[in-house]
Amino acid sequence: MVKIIKYWLAGLKALCGTLADIIWPEQEQNLTESEQKTQRVALVTGSTSGIGKAIAERLANDGYRVMFHSRHSVEAGNVLAETVPNACYIQADLAQPEQITSLIQQILVTHGRLDVLINNAAISAVIPHGDMQLASADVWRKMYDVNVIAPWLLIAEAEAALRNAATEQHSSCIVNVSSHAGVRPKGASIPYAVSKAALNHMTKLLAVNLSPLIRVNAVAPGLVDTPMTKDWHDARALWRDKSPMQRGAQAEEIADIVAMLVHSSYLTGEVILCDGGLNLV
Ligand SMILES: NC(=O)c1ccc[n+]([C@@H]2O[C@H](COP(=O)([O-])OP(=O)(O)OC[C@H]3O[C@@H](n4cnc5c(N)ncnc54)[C@H](OP(=O)(O)O)[C@@H]3O)[C@@H](O)[C@H]2O)c1
Repeated sequence: MVKIIKYWLAGLKALCGTLADIIWPEQEQNLTESEQKTQRVALVTGSTSGIGKAIAERLANDGYRVMFHSRHSVEAGNVLAETVPNACYIQADLAQPEQITSLIQQILVTHGRLDVLINNAAISAVIPHGDMQLASADVWRKMYDVNVIAPWLLIAEAEAALRNAATEQHSSCIVNVSSHAGVRPKGASIPYAVSKAALNHMTKLLAVNLSPLIRVNAVAPGLVDTPMTKDWHDARALWRDKSPMQRGAQAEEIADIVAMLVHSSYLTGEVILCDGGLNLV
């Protein structure tokens, strides 16, 4: 059966040049057909590094079939798909709406269901808040394309599948990875902070509209040690010197909070600020 789907997918891809690339792991073939139908499936966007990778690994450990995803880092995604049990990797640029459509389509062709969508992929830009010229219209548009419009389009594409996978006892779940910059007037740049504030508001509006079959929540991290923040020495000093926890977070600590939201049967519409208490001082 797996082989049939692979050939069907190859044919579909040949017909449609916009389809994103999928790396098919050997482990997938270890599942029985009935396991393939019932084991829950999670897509974590931007999961080849940092917070997304930690979330995907955590959900795989919790028994989900995980779809790793990224824009450019195909090799890292390939390695993850080979090493994490029952995982796949899909490449798609979320700034391209047609690739979002094919990303969700491919998951459904591959697994036949989708239970959890983690909107983690995002871009940032370090721009002093007072520099109105540097925060150009182009910067705003690029930030909104990936940080706001892509999560919206992913949710719209996935809604029917998430509803189908849900039962009265077990809702499907969306978690948006936001930022403390979307809660407080802080962050790497104003366009980034505003994009995350928009994502927080979208989270609450969709929680109302997609309930009760689909729960929608967000996590809003402060500083987290990831490739995105490797040169953010001032921020690291700020968290060390001022925050009650006296440090930034590790990606695995954010993944723990996401897993809590995924496993909850009741939480919806929450934006969980996880900044080590910096907002309190
Ligand atoms: N790190 C922090 O301190 C911090 C704090 C607050 C919030 N956050 C949020 O946490 C999330 C993850 O951040 P991170 O620090 O873990 O980032 P990261 O290590 O830089 O990873 C970003 C991921 O997103 C993917 N991505 C970026 N643009 C994409 C696009 N157009 N299409 C598809 N994939 C794309 C990247 O793929 P490629 O590598 O292939 O480009 C990568 O897999 C983001 O939403 C970020 O805003 C981070």
